[in-house]
Amino acid sequence: MSPFRLTRTLPEDATGAALRADVRAGLTGSPKTLPPKWFYDARGSELFEEITALPEYYPTRAEREILLARADEIAAASGARTLVELGSGSSEKTRHLIAALDGLHTYVPVDVSESALTGAGQALAAERPGLEVHALVADFTAELALPDTPGPRLVAFLGGTVGNLLPAERSAFLASVRALLAPGDALLLGTDLVKDERTLVRAYDDAAGVTAAFNRNVLNVVNRELGADFDPDAFAHVAVWDAEHEWIEMRLRSRTAQSVKIPALELVVDFSEGEELRTEVSAKFRQEGVRAELAAAGLDLTRWWTDGEGRFALSLSVA
Ligand code: AVJ
Repeated sequence: MSPFRLTRTLPEDATGAALRADVRAGLTGSPKTLPPKWFYDARGSELFEEITALPEYYPTRAEREILLARADEIAAASGARTLVELGSGSSEKTRHLIAALDGLHTYVPVDVSESALTGAGQALAAERPGLEVHALVADFTAELALPDTPGPRLVAFLGGTVGNLLPAERSAFLASVRALLAPGDALLLGTDLVKDERTLVRAYDDAAGVTAAFNRNVLNVVNRELGADFDPDAFAHVAVWDAEHEWIEMRLRSRTAQSVKIPALELVVDFSEGEELRTEVSAKFRQEGVRAELAAAGLDLTRWWTDGEGRFALSLSVA
C-alpha cells in the first residue's frame, strides 16, 4: 500500500463560496471584519513564513524550543500510534515530535492547502519508511471526519492558531476535537501566553513592515477572487493589545473616506476616514484559562510545558 494517501473533504467550490459569504458578512457588519483564514494565499503564506523568522516574532521559536526539549516526554505521555495535526502546513513544527513517537503508525496532516500537504506528506513518508501518511484536505474548523487508524491518537494543534478563534468559536472547536477523541487519546495544544504589551505589539507590528504587508495582503485576495478594487496602500496597518479580552487585534485603518467596489457580490463598501477593519484577533492565554476552556470541552489538562522564558506553552490534555 502506498505510504502516502490524500483525501479531499472540501467540496470543489467550498473556498469560493466561503470567501464570498465571509466578505459579504464581514464588510457589511459593524465594525467591519474579515476572518484571518483568508490571509493564506500563496503570497500570504510566504509572508507568514518570513514573519516566523522576524526578531520580534517570538512564538515560532518559543514553540520550537519546547518541542525540541519535550518531544520525548510528549511521546511517552501520549504513546500515540496516530498523530493528527490540524493546520499542519509544512509539517515543520512536528518533524521532531514524529521522530520521537517510536510507535507511530500513521500521520494524518490536515490542512486546506493541498500543495502543502502533498509536499510535506511525501517528504515525511520518505524520511520515515513504514510511516503511513493519510493527508486530509479539510477545514478543521468545520466538521472533521478522521480516517480509521490505530489508537491511541494524539491530535496536535500548534503555532498558537487556536488564538485566532474568538472565545465562542474556541469552545465549539474544542468540543469538536473532544468528539474526535476516544478514551486514552490526547490533544497537544500550542498557546501563546499573556505578557507585556510592548513585546506583544512589536510581534505584530515589526520594524521591517512584514506583518503590515501580510495584513494588507488580504485585500489583494479579495481583489483577485472577487474582482474588488481595494487599494492596499489606502489602508494603514494597526496592531493593538486589547487588555480586556487579552488578545492582539490586527486592523486595517482607512486613510481617507473611500468606497470599494466588490462586483462579485454586487456590493459597494464605504469606509469613513479612520474607519478600521479588523482582520485578526490573536488571543494570549494563562494556564488556568486554558485548563478551564479544556475542561469545559471535556478535556483534562495533564501536562503543561513552556519555553525557558515562559513566553509560549504546550499543553497535553486527555479525553
Ligand atoms: C499563525 C495564527 C498563530 O496569530 O500569531 C502572525 C498569525 N498574525 N502575525 C498568530 C500571525 C500576525 C499567527 N498564527
